[in-house]
Amino acid sequence: MARPRPDAQLVGIERYRQQVLAHPLARGIRPDEVLAYLETLPRERFPRVAYAKRGPQPCVQPRGGFPLFEAQRRLTDALSKAGADFIPLTIDSYTRQNQYETATQLLRRSEEEGKNFLNGYPLISHGHELTRGLFTDLARPVSLRHGTPDARLLAEVAIASGILEIEGGGICYCLPYSEGFPIDRSLLYWQYVDRICALNSTPGAPIHRESFGPLTATLVPPAIAVAVQIIEALLAAEQGVVSFAVSFGQTGSMVQDIATAQVLRELTRHYLDEFGFGCVQTYLVYHQWMGQFPAERAKAAALIAGSAVVASVVAADKIVVKTVDEALGVPRPEVNAEAVDTVKYVLRVFGSAQPMHSDLIDREARLVESEARSILGAILSLSGGAFWESVFRACQEGFLDVPFSPHSDNANRLISMRDANRSVRIVDRGSVPISDADAALERELLTSRADRSDKTYRQLLSDINLMV
Ligand code: 5AD
Repeated sequence: MARPRPDAQLVGIERYRQQVLAHPLARGIRPDEVLAYLETLPRERFPRVAYAKRGPQPCVQPRGGFPLFEAQRRLTDALSKAGADFIPLTIDSYTRQNQYETATQLLRRSEEEGKNFLNGYPLISHGHELTRGLFTDLARPVSLRHGTPDARLLAEVAIASGILEIEGGGICYCLPYSEGFPIDRSLLYWQYVDRICALNSTPGAPIHRESFGPLTATLVPPAIAVAVQIIEALLAAEQGVVSFAVSFGQTGSMVQDIATAQVLRELTRHYLDEFGFGCVQTYLVYHQWMGQFPAERAKAAALIAGSAVVASVVAADKIVVKTVDEALGVPRPEVNAEAVDTVKYVLRVFGSAQPMHSDLIDREARLVESEARSILGAILSLSGGAFWESVFRACQEGFLDVPFSPHSDNANRLISMRDANRSVRIVDRGSVPISDADAALERELLTSRADRSDKTYRQLLSDINLMV
């Protein structure tokens, strides 16, 4: 049995790092110079500090990335002025896929033609020296948002640029984002990222990691998201990460959101403590609806406002916000800033909610907890020399089955749909090791739905496109 272990840290990291940093696009990054640079940054650039000083409401974080440096700087300014607590740096899709040459060519074309040929900021093409200048005098954290299975060089350049929150993980940035990137390699490359986050951390000023719980954001049962989040927290902790946020995406059911938040928060703490990682500080992040958005701006604004209320009710530490242009394309800085302003307004006027309880919520929480414990228990008892190998085997066995994953090695045997209160239910567990009793309860809860017999393609589409 391969349990998570505090002494499971990557060996030979110095030589390995030298190899990664020998890449010409690393532009001479030197670990000692980076450490000295981090020392010079305002303490508020560290997520732990930003989280510690937040009021009763969740921190607010937009997303955003443009190819040109100047455009990114204008976006950063607009979002800061609007009061974003975390500033994003969203990376373009070519850089995410390690296609740095294409990203660089399209950056040049964007510069020459004054048009955006990339859907984000090509951090590696711009390099760390220029990128540091994006955030001069900024006294709040910057967050790297991407979707990269091999983020070794990207994370090095990000940290060297003063970006101290790194989103992602070996599962959450592979199964939903890639068709064929080998899962074992993704897990190993993310060990590297976690390890360099730890190596760039000092006590009180840790580089922060965040996992991506929404996964494909398409009928994902909460227990799968919870299990993936806890696995990634444990894998990061093994490498010495001490500041970690778990997250999940709005499910479409208020009951399920409240239950999921409770279970995710409690079980993350439970498993970290169980394996000797009591020193890891954890946070809970809530993603506004990650599925198809309404194209009408008034409806999009209503959805954004409504989910801000849910973030407050679940007492999230941070909410990641969408914009009214979500269905239309990359939002302009003003539109993005407006979303931050709207969410901050909603959070302020609705005040801070007390934890909510009802029989429905409690029943949902018990079910999600029981399922997540079964999945994690099964993974922890898989053989393997190290914990990551058990996680890899869990993917091969279909224990971690992400609905609608484009990845060729995802099992795709789990089938889910919505019940009468819009909660995501497991119709067929496939090989996911939840108990017979929980599987039976999932099916029983589905009978509450009047139109259940209509298991057509149309039905599935309306379950997916719930908010349109
Ligand atoms: N600017 C703003 N938001 C972006 N997203 C992705 N790229 C950008 C960008 N360049 C957001 C969108 C998308 C989510 C995954 O991230 O909301 O749905």
